[in-house]
Amino acid sequence: MANIIDGKAIASQVRGEIADGVQRLIEQTGVTPGLAVIIVGDNPASQVYVRNKKRACEEVGMYSEVYELPATTTQAELTDLVRRLNKDNKIHGILVQLPLPKPLDEAEIIAEIDPSKDVDAFSAYNTGKIMIGDFDFLPCTPAGVMKLLEKSGIEVSGKECVVVGRSNIVGKPQAMLLLHANGTVTICHSRTKNLAEVTRRADILVVAIGKADFITGDMVKEGAVVIDVGMNRRADGKLTGDVDFASVEPKASYITPVPGGVGPMTITMLLQNTLTSAVNFARKTSLN
Ligand code: GUN
Repeated sequence: MANIIDGKAIASQVRGEIADGVQRLIEQTGVTPGLAVIIVGDNPASQVYVRNKKRACEEVGMYSEVYELPATTTQAELTDLVRRLNKDNKIHGILVQLPLPKPLDEAEIIAEIDPSKDVDAFSAYNTGKIMIGDFDFLPCTPAGVMKLLEKSGIEVSGKECVVVGRSNIVGKPQAMLLLHANGTVTICHSRTKNLAEVTRRADILVVAIGKADFITGDMVKEGAVVIDVGMNRRADGKLTGDVDFASVEPKASYITPVPGGVGPMTITMLLQNTLTSAVNFARKTSLN
């Protein structure tokens, strides 16, 4: 029987600490952390994420602005908005919700965001900072995973860590954060041969491939820690992860459920990054 890692409870505790940090910053400097979220088009999943981000900001005492733009928005219009927000002193974090509708160019717009306000840590600059281990902003989902491990008392140093998935948003930065924590890290992907052989080596297995119930009990070592980043919708409408919980849970020592595992941590780390950015802004402006 595995310990179930309660992401909701841990997120709530961390958000409490962030709310305290927000109040302290306001009292000491008069700066209220502010997040701007831009959503283009009417992707229903994106609309839910954006609503949740706005609500989360309010709950920790942050200021937020949501820009809901039509799918017909041009690259030039979107660029103008980002450039305006780059100069806005009320705003310390800018997030462009992905995916963007075609033909908008995601890479081009991410490159427009001032790196000091890039609270998703998606830009080439912040990605590079993560690589060298000198960062202000941690990528939200991988940082959420690290926080779950830390709060569950799971040591990473010296462990065999296997990351399944190599996306720029999760897999690659996740591997880097585990490496910074002194794990021995392997990244698997769609071309990996004998995947089950590799995943069975893992003391800590992080799965982010977007395939429902893909990792089954026979692919997991007895006593492994299993972190499921997947968020898939089954035909019956139910949410499920990339890990087949029923067959993996009996073998794992710790496991995250879906929903209620990694999901609540992603927005929590976005709030943390926005607070960090506002603290940095307050420090810079007090020095001028
Ligand atoms: N779309 C899905 N997840 C994310 C995220 O973490 N940030 C942004 N900007 N878009 C997303």
